[in-house]
Amino acid sequence: MYFKERTHTCGELRESNIGEKVILNGWVDRNRDLGGVLFIDLRDRYGITQVVFEPHINAEAHQAAKNLRNEFVISVEGYVRKRPAETENPEIPTGYVDVMVEKLTILNEATTPPFQIKDDIDTHEEIRLKYRYLDLRRPKLQRNIVLRHKMYQITRKYFDENNFIEIETPVLMKSTPEGARDFLVPSRLHKGKFYALPQSPQTYKQILMVAGFDRYFQIVKCFRDEDLRADRQPEFTQIDVEMSFVDQKDIFNIVEGLMKDFFKEILNKDLQLPLPRLTFNEAMESYGSDKPDLRFDLKMVNLNSVFQKTEFKVFHDAIENSGVISGLLAPGCGDYTRNQLDVLTDFVKKLGAGGLIWMRVKEDGLEAPVAKFLSSEEKQNLINALSAKNGDLIFILSGSKLKTLNIMGALRLEMARRLDLIKADSEPKLLWVTDFPLFEWDEQTKRFYAMHHPFTSPRLEDIELMDKDPALVKARAYDLVLNGNEIAGGSIRIHNAELQAKMFKILGISEEEAKTKFGFLMNAFKYGAPPHGGIAFGFDRLAMIFAGENSIREVIAFPKTASAISLMDDSPSSVTDDQLLELHIKVRKSAHE
Ligand code: AMO
Repeated sequence: MYFKERTHTCGELRESNIGEKVILNGWVDRNRDLGGVLFIDLRDRYGITQVVFEPHINAEAHQAAKNLRNEFVISVEGYVRKRPAETENPEIPTGYVDVMVEKLTILNEATTPPFQIKDDIDTHEEIRLKYRYLDLRRPKLQRNIVLRHKMYQITRKYFDENNFIEIETPVLMKSTPEGARDFLVPSRLHKGKFYALPQSPQTYKQILMVAGFDRYFQIVKCFRDEDLRADRQPEFTQIDVEMSFVDQKDIFNIVEGLMKDFFKEILNKDLQLPLPRLTFNEAMESYGSDKPDLRFDLKMVNLNSVFQKTEFKVFHDAIENSGVISGLLAPGCGDYTRNQLDVLTDFVKKLGAGGLIWMRVKEDGLEAPVAKFLSSEEKQNLINALSAKNGDLIFILSGSKLKTLNIMGALRLEMARRLDLIKADSEPKLLWVTDFPLFEWDEQTKRFYAMHHPFTSPRLEDIELMDKDPALVKARAYDLVLNGNEIAGGSIRIHNAELQAKMFKILGISEEEAKTKFGFLMNAFKYGAPPHGGIAFGFDRLAMIFAGENSIREVIAFPKTASAISLMDDSPSSVTDDQLLELHIKVRKSAHE
């Protein structure tokens, strides 16, 4: 080796090391020349140590140190001294000592970086992503990546201790039925054929149950070609789990145990079990979301009974059409100006609402443009239903059920933001949402879709309803929600061929299509499929929340942008004509090219 191995990391030296000869390697974080004495902050992933160059200790090293710039990689040899009084830095663990440098070796020079390597920098995310290796040197990202590492270890230890087996499943596979668009990989050997990258290992893990691996888990990359948001990436990581001979409660127990370990080891909090549960309907009615944020209250209230006999046309129509009238109380917001109310009206209109009904609660009743359409009994019942007080503001939305509740849910979140109800130190709120509808009706295509995926079992008591009224059938499906984020989702599966056929029929999947798409799974099921079920965590989302971040990009070493581009290595990129030829692919030019 042309340089001496370090004796310590840059985060290690303490007062107990004073007097020792040491060697440190690292990056120049900062340099200052204070009247002939040079101070360098030397950084590695463990911390920062101040190293000092004084001409009388080694004139040559002192001279060479003058040429050091930020991000140069150096090795220093010297002795540890106690920092002179008044110069200590209690903010960092190494802040009571200096290393007095006797020998300097420059291991590598560095071009001036496009941004400073420190937290809270005001730099465009694009620049950070382009120079991700520099971004990753920042303390915050280093912490996030280490946290992620810790989460992998907790996960593996937990599942191993609970008798689960980690099994890898293929990355080149047949298209999966998760509902997003597939990323396809052309086959060179089989002209015109494609592999799909897994949207999840769903079919494989079910087949593993048939194979007898009754407790499976995997930390696995999944790929979905869908519109991206702060909590979505085209490739993301799941903790994927499947179990045989289980019911929902067994899956809940296993998942709750893992969450308890995460809470203890990452947040140092004792998670109270069992976790609270809300049915999908309860979550929608009270919070307008299937992933309710329970860190604040602001519950929505169903007002249908208050306006059951109303003459106010808007509410009357909603009830007549089996819709909903939903109310939300904004405490202390009775003095909102017309302008503020217009902004909120625009907010809900953008989400598809016809308008927003608001009422100010006054000492002597309700003040609102619609007040004249309501009877005094209705007004009193409304006040009671919402426990409204003088100075409060009431919002009401009405219309078709899920749409109206969703919009009110968005308004609930918006009001929480305006009222600053979510504090940085708010207790994390974890809950199960259960009893999802099995099917989702799509107005555009006029057909049912599986809300989860087509292998999700209906509630046994609802099987009869499948023929009569599919929209009413509830699934044995569940989501785990943390602070308003869906962090895991799963279900008990169908393991009976007849029920599966019925499911395909309702989904409009012909026998032929089912055979081509899922024939291999259906075949496997003929050879003794055990009752089974499972769940998958969105690992990145979980890491994002534990790290206190708002975007999963902050906990992924090399994320893609919102338009699915990797700015660092410039992918996706063009390939050569020869490569395309080999893959039997011709790229068509669009008309405007
Ligand atoms: P699901 O599709 O609900 O279920 O996915 C499970 C969890 O994965 C996370 N997730 C994502 N995270 C980041 N970027 C994305 N694009 C993305 N899409 C999903 C979410 C979600 O809760 N096979 C089933 C699981 C099962 O039934 O066992 C599945 O994949 O946190």
